[in-house]
Amino acid sequence: MSENYKTLYERSITDPEGFWAEAAEAIDWDRKWDRVLDADAKPAARWFVGGELNTCYNCLDRHVEAGRGDQAALIYDSPVTDQQKTYSYRELQDTVARFAGVLSGRGVKKGDRVIVYMPMIPEATIAMLACARLGAIHSVVFGGFAANELATRIDDAKPKFIVTASCGIEPHRVVEYKPLLDKAIELAAHKPDGCIIKARPQASASMIEGRDLDWDDEMAGAEPADCVPVAATDPLYILYTSGTTGIPKGVVRDNGGHAVALNWSMKNIYNVDAGDVFWAASDVGWVVGHSYIVYGTLLRGCTTLMYEGKPVGTPDPGAFWRVISDYKVRVLFTAPTAFRAIKKEDPEGTYLAKYDLSCMDSLFLAGERCDPDTLFWARDKLNKPVVDHWWQTETGWAIAANPLGIQAMEVKPGSPTVAMPGYDVRILSDDGREMPDGDMGDMVIKLPLPPACLPTLWNNDRGFTDSYLSRYPGYYLSGDAGFRDADDYLWIMSRTDDIINVAGHRLSTGGIEEVLASHPDIAECAVIGVADQLKGELPVGLAVLKAGVDRDQGEITAGLVKLVRERIGPVAAFKTVVIVARLPKTRSGKVLRGTMKKLADGQEYRVPATIDDPAILDEIERSLQSIGYAKKA
Ligand code: COA
Ligand code: AMP
Repeated sequence: MSENYKTLYERSITDPEGFWAEAAEAIDWDRKWDRVLDADAKPAARWFVGGELNTCYNCLDRHVEAGRGDQAALIYDSPVTDQQKTYSYRELQDTVARFAGVLSGRGVKKGDRVIVYMPMIPEATIAMLACARLGAIHSVVFGGFAANELATRIDDAKPKFIVTASCGIEPHRVVEYKPLLDKAIELAAHKPDGCIIKARPQASASMIEGRDLDWDDEMAGAEPADCVPVAATDPLYILYTSGTTGIPKGVVRDNGGHAVALNWSMKNIYNVDAGDVFWAASDVGWVVGHSYIVYGTLLRGCTTLMYEGKPVGTPDPGAFWRVISDYKVRVLFTAPTAFRAIKKEDPEGTYLAKYDLSCMDSLFLAGERCDPDTLFWARDKLNKPVVDHWWQTETGWAIAANPLGIQAMEVKPGSPTVAMPGYDVRILSDDGREMPDGDMGDMVIKLPLPPACLPTLWNNDRGFTDSYLSRYPGYYLSGDAGFRDADDYLWIMSRTDDIINVAGHRLSTGGIEEVLASHPDIAECAVIGVADQLKGELPVGLAVLKAGVDRDQGEITAGLVKLVRERIGPVAAFKTVVIVARLPKTRSGKVLRGTMKKLADGQEYRVPATIDDPAILDEIERSLQSIGYAKKA
């Protein structure tokens, strides 16, 4: 391993304060910090304590002041509406300041929460930055979630305002947001003071007098609002992510550490700088969207891209190549599933030949394990470096990557390469001992976590400690299992909880089970993540009927699929459930989900010694075969 990465990494671990204080010089502070790191803060260490800054100022105003006002800040490309629009830094600053004026005129101030439930349109980014400008805390909810999920987030975040649009656009349907919003507010105990709705021509929104406001009307006479300095440790946003139950966890991100680490990551990991075009083909509803559609890119002075479309079908598998060549994208960041979708439709890469991709330096993939086949295909077809990197909503930036801006390291397909500065990754056995190289264990991070990682869960220090810090005192539990090899490369193999990754979207099988269990005909159920060639994993349900239920089983399963779509949303991609007579369990009553998953995937499995009745596995195998799984190799 060459010295560059190694020297930097070791310094970040032995002298975290020196390392991050230096990185913090690249951010504009209203007040410099008193302490770089308060390692004793509870429930977790805090960065840049005593410092004050404004994240929106650092994303926009300072670049305008530095002479970048005419540079493109945000490009919106929407094949689903056939629109393109570019905002310069000056235009984006002006629009954001005016929308901040709208919010503050309606009473939103520092510390208030604002939910942003938006499709991939510039107004989503504008709303996020406007909150940051006022020191208000945004919580973006992905558009593919149903009213019920939105209601849960409303009750937890207790927003003063909700910003939304009349609709989102999926390739074959218009998703009307307003009925979902109205239903969510009806379901929630907390009621916001008001809602601001961006009307789109594809769907109209019926407005509720006294509560709903039209975005364009509000913006028409809006006065710009100034940036409000906030403490480095104040929350910038809350982003809900799947936990082990149906109740999502509100990951909190602070202002100071976040700005420092994300700005640092742009140059050192992605090897881009001010003026470069960086495209994160994700959604602002996910952490990738927060970090690299909005904040990281703009903090660094890059040009960011918001793409409202899919990798395939809008209109063809050449969509990504068109965008890269049209806007001279240097780095593309997406999930492996997007490349699997392209590869499926255009295995030979014939669409690539139609575009000039000489502007592109590299491709970064994350969100799920990158299977070597996808990595090889992308690398061969693009003829560019392809970097798999590992991170989580909780960390906000990569735990492990190939840091192209520091040093391009040898690629080992299947590994996201090495730990990034600040992340002291260890592999522990069940009883907390460090595992030797090559042996699997729990992947943990020795505390303190580096800047930008979550300091707690929203209004839930206890839940934060229970979920992440109590399993191995002194370490953050990532929830991933894997190993380190002799060259210090990390290998992420599986989750240790019930979280699955469907098309790069994080879902809790426990959350889906809660919905199935609420059906009046269901006695008990299990949901497992089965391997899927396109989406990586897909949730499949197994349900046991209550005694005496003799309704048509097809009707019941269709009802269950509908229920999950209604309660969680289409993003769950829950399409398959099979009725079984019994579920396999241990003698103590624990459902053997891991064994069923292996069965479904046609993998070798060991019959657990603790199984109550091994014969059930044969029944389950037949049931899974009836729906196309558990095929013998
Ligand atoms: N609003 C409303 N519905 C949405 C939505 C949104 N923002 N995003 C997705 N959905 C819906 C889809 O329309 C689909 O509904 P359907 O069951 O009626 O077909 C369902 O949710 C599942 O969506 P998705 O998992 O995205 O599947 P898809 O078949 O539409 O597309 C891919 C598959 C692979 C092309 C797509 O997932 C993709 O491009 N992934 C890229 C990676 C990515 O964005 N990762 C995020 C983290 S980096
Ligand atoms: P999310 O919070 O949605 O970003 O999901 C985080 C989870 O996705 C991680 O805990 C991993 O299980 C998985 N993940 C993300 N990136 C990778 C990767 N590069 N390799 C393997 N798993 C990954």
